[in-house]
Amino acid sequence: MKELTPETITQAVLDQMATTPNPRMKEIMASAVKHLHAFAKDVNLTPAEWIRGIAFMTEVGKLCTPARQEFILLSDTLGLSALVNGLHDTTALEEGTHTSLLGPFYRETTPQLAPGSQIARNANPSTEIALYGYVSDVNGKPLGGASVSVWQTSASGLYDIQENPDSVDYRGVFTTDANGLFFLRTVKPLGYSIPMDGPVGEMVRAQRRHGMRPAHIHFLVSAPSYRELVTALYLRNDPHLADDVVFGSSGDLAVDINPKDAECPVKGMPSIRFDMRLSRETAADRAGGRVGADPAAIVKQPA
Ligand code: BEZ
Ligand code: FE
Repeated sequence: MKELTPETITQAVLDQMATTPNPRMKEIMASAVKHLHAFAKDVNLTPAEWIRGIAFMTEVGKLCTPARQEFILLSDTLGLSALVNGLHDTTALEEGTHTSLLGPFYRETTPQLAPGSQIARNANPSTEIALYGYVSDVNGKPLGGASVSVWQTSASGLYDIQENPDSVDYRGVFTTDANGLFFLRTVKPLGYSIPMDGPVGEMVRAQRRHGMRPAHIHFLVSAPSYRELVTALYLRNDPHLADDVVFGSSGDLAVDINPKDAECPVKGMPSIRFDMRLSRETAADRAGGRVGADPAAIVKQPA
């Protein structure tokens, strides 16, 4: 038997995993092993450091519940979610509205609401705004009957589930009309800190990062035969637009609140217009999935 050394161990692992029948799993695991081994060599990782890393990931796992996904937060703060989203955008058949993070606060159980509904239960008139836009294909053809799921923080910067795990608030699903129009009332979102009370927050603090996301509103848009769009709009005047702690914001998704927009279907209210263009769908899109999920759905997944 040959002795394994730091020079030969990587190939030994790859040889043993070569029996993996699923070709995509084989490719992903082989690359992960090569990069993990290269990383350990690059930093000359010590046993104590690796145990510290394992303890960190154990804490991340322990915090994952049906209401919280610390692993998604880790992926987000390391820029991995944004990278995977960016790669996903490059595989679209057509260039539509770009993807942004789904984040950890999306909920599958979101109520379907009538056009124009207020999504915040107790909206203070001073923070109330209208939100509308047109969903179309990449050539501007309106997509009627598209589903537009919207979720955001309250005007004080917390998601419903952070205020109370049983509450459903500041979220709703709307259907576009024949012109592709959706519209609703909401409250002005506020920039906020990602959850800092867990191991990911500890890491962000140790790196002297601020932990803030710019004010934003999330969207999940779908229409038959079109690629599902997970995106968000960002308020252009937010001080953290350019240094989002989870790398989700970008200039092409930035919008302003218009104090007087004559085209807004909700008259007399400051408003945001956010139009979205969807690419046609390919067979591969249906298997591509989303970066992120309702935490309850992840916990429930079979091993
Ligand atoms: C959010 O947009 O809600 C979010 C995204 C990533 C990490 C934390 C929060
Ligand atoms: Fe968010």
